[in-house]
Amino acid sequence: MFDLNDKVAVVTGARRGIGKGIAEKLAEAGAKIVISDIDQEECDSAAAEIAERFSREAIGIKCDVSSKEEVDSLIQKTVERFGKLDILVNNAGIFFQKPLMDYTEEDWDKVLQVNLKGVYLCSQAAAREMIKNSYGKIVSVSSIAGIIGYPDAAAYCASKAGIINLTREMAIELAKHKINVNSVAPGLIETPMTQHIIEDQEQFQKTLAGIPWNRQGHPSDIANAVHYLVSDEADYVTGQTIVVDGGWTIQ
Ligand SMILES: NC(=O)c1ccc[n+]([C@@H]2O[C@H](COP(=O)([O-])OP(=O)(O)OC[C@H]3O[C@@H](n4cnc5c(N)ncnc54)[C@H](O)[C@@H]3O)[C@@H](O)[C@H]2O)c1
Repeated sequence: MFDLNDKVAVVTGARRGIGKGIAEKLAEAGAKIVISDIDQEECDSAAAEIAERFSREAIGIKCDVSSKEEVDSLIQKTVERFGKLDILVNNAGIFFQKPLMDYTEEDWDKVLQVNLKGVYLCSQAAAREMIKNSYGKIVSVSSIAGIIGYPDAAAYCASKAGIINLTREMAIELAKHKINVNSVAPGLIETPMTQHIIEDQEQFQKTLAGIPWNRQGHPSDIANAVHYLVSDEADYVTGQTIVVDGGWTIQ
C-alpha cells in the first residue's frame, strides 16, 4: 500500500524534525530522496543516514526556500541527478512569537518570506518539471495556526493560512497537468521547534488538557498523512488540508 518505488521526492527543511520524519517515511516506501535545508553538511549527514537505513538513494542539497535562485538550483540539481521530480514536500518553516504591538516590518517579512513565499517558489519550480511528465504530488506543511488563531504569532498564523488557500488555488490550476496539491496541518508536534513549549511543564500540561488524545504528536504522525497524500491512492484528493492534531481543534 502507498508504494513509492521509483518516485523522486524533494523534502524542504528536512535536516531534522518533521521534515526528516517525512523523508524517512517516503524513503521507507521506496522513494529516492533529496534532503534540502539551509546547511549543506547537515543535509548530507541526514541523507547519508537515510540512504543507509533504508537502502535508497538519498542526497543533500542546500537551499534557502526564500531565495528563487537557490530554489531553481535545487530543482535543477534534482532533475540532473534523478532525471525527474515526482514529489515535493514544502516543509521548511520558521516559528516566531512576539506580541503584535512589538512586531517590526522585518519580523513580518522574514516569516512570510520563508513560510509562504517559499511554498510558492518551490511549488512553481517543481511544477515546471512535473508538467513535463503530466504527474506530480505537492504537499505543504501548514499548521492548525492557519485555521485558528495562536497568540503572539501574527505572521506565522497569516503565513500558514496563506498556505492553506494557496493549496486550493494551485490544485485548481495544476489539475489539468495531473498534479495534486494538498496540505497537512499539524497540531503540537515534538521537534526542536516546540522543545521550549514541551519543556515548560506548566504550559505543556495546559496544552495537553485541550488535546483529546492527551499527547503531543511526533514527526511520524505527520509523515503518515503526507505518505498517503503523495501516493497514487490519493489521486482524486486535491486542494485539501488534513488536520493532524489529536483532536485539538475539534472542540
Ligand atoms: N512542530 C510543530 O508543532 C509544528 C506545528 C505546526 C506546523 N509545523 C510546521 O512544520 C514544519 C516543520 O517544523 P518542525 O517542527 O520540524 O521545526 P524544525 O525547526 O525542527 O524544522 C524546520 C526546518 O526548516 C528549516 N528551515 C528554516 N528556514 C528555512 C529556509 N529559509 N529554507 C530552508 N529550510 C529552512 C530549518 O533549518 C529546520 O531544519 C514547519 O513548516 C512548521 O511551521 C510544526
